[in-house]
Amino acid sequence: MVSSLKELIQKDIVKIAKLPKMNSFSPEEVDGYTVTLIDHDYPGKTPSLWNTVYDSLTQSNPLHPKFRSVMVVADPTNIEVIFNALLSDEKYFGGGTGSGFKDIAAKYLRKVNHGALDQSSEVSGSVNIIAKKNGKLVGFDTDAEGYAKGLEKEFGIESINDKNIVVLGAGGVTSPIIYSLLKRSPRKLVILNRTIGKAERIVNNMKKLYPHLSDNLSFGGEDRIGTELKDAELVINTSNKGTAGEKLAKFSAFAKTTEENLPNEDHMFNQGSEAEENIKGLSKKAIVSDINLVEDETTTIKIAKAYGISRTQDGKPMMFFQAIPAFLHVHPNIISEGELENMMRKASF
Ligand SMILES: NC(=O)c1ccc[n+]([C@@H]2O[C@H](COP(=O)([O-])OP(=O)(O)OC[C@H]3O[C@@H](n4cnc5c(N)ncnc54)[C@H](OP(=O)(O)O)[C@@H]3O)[C@@H](O)[C@H]2O)c1
Repeated sequence: MVSSLKELIQKDIVKIAKLPKMNSFSPEEVDGYTVTLIDHDYPGKTPSLWNTVYDSLTQSNPLHPKFRSVMVVADPTNIEVIFNALLSDEKYFGGGTGSGFKDIAAKYLRKVNHGALDQSSEVSGSVNIIAKKNGKLVGFDTDAEGYAKGLEKEFGIESINDKNIVVLGAGGVTSPIIYSLLKRSPRKLVILNRTIGKAERIVNNMKKLYPHLSDNLSFGGEDRIGTELKDAELVINTSNKGTAGEKLAKFSAFAKTTEENLPNEDHMFNQGSEAEENIKGLSKKAIVSDINLVEDETTTIKIAKAYGISRTQDGKPMMFFQAIPAFLHVHPNIISEGELENMMRKASF
């Protein structure tokens, strides 16, 4: 039986991610750790945010235990062996779930005896942070409010309320984002995804949670992107298109990820003709938001700006506003919320 993070690494069940900053890690050298699981390597910010806080705690008090946050790449189908090992590992006290793990973690923690879900995860069907409490792994969702807060801070509540929203992608993080958007009463919301059944499932769940908005919710496939963008006021990419560290980085969310849609210098926006065609009908007053985190700008944001959209937002505000409550769920007593916010603000913007 695998019973620690060290063994998970030794057996190659998890690999330390190479792309996030401040992610060097050795389990023996620290007193405790938080572990974020992702299904592919990308420059996630959790290690730099959390380790900045941990470093400052030990700098201001050398007797403070040495903690580390690490992001690891793993196959989500190994979730059982991974969580069993982390549960038995005395140095593990919780951590995040990133791309590919959020909805799977919610399903898993709801089902097993040593797992539990906070109300936030029960309603959104997603977990982005886990805290080890009294021998159980408890899943919380702070992505939902984190996304909406980030948008509201920059563009106001009117960016969501009574607006026509197009959501591209239907992965684990899409559900919590939509849950928090619907709380703010948009006029209409459509989810478009490569796998239509996943968009349909989210819409059906949301209809149960928000029955009064049922007629305003719909779903579809990537073939409807151009049609739906025509009267959109807020477009959100929640898919992996544009993620750094793999071939998807070259694609925007405005088109399918086929070879024909690879960046192509013959096209005005240096992107395949389908994206160029699809964005044509979008109002230049619309907001384009892409939750993916990359060093520079995602292809989606680049194309939106080149087309003439001035109001864009990347994944940083969401990351910042989800990280503060997430940290406090795992460490309720080691730092005040105000101090934490100051430290994380410096590390994230
Ligand atoms: N800024 C932040 O704080 C923040 C927080 C959370 C997540 N994120 C980012 O959000 C992204 C999604 O996370 P997640 O947990 O929802 O991931 P996920 O559950 O793995 O979902 C991935 C989504 O991308 C789509 N997709 C993947 N490859 C595709 C392809 N080749 N063509 C078309 N669609 C494709 C999937 O479509 P199918 O359903 O058809 O497979 C699905 O909609 C990640 O890149 C993550 O880094 C950012």
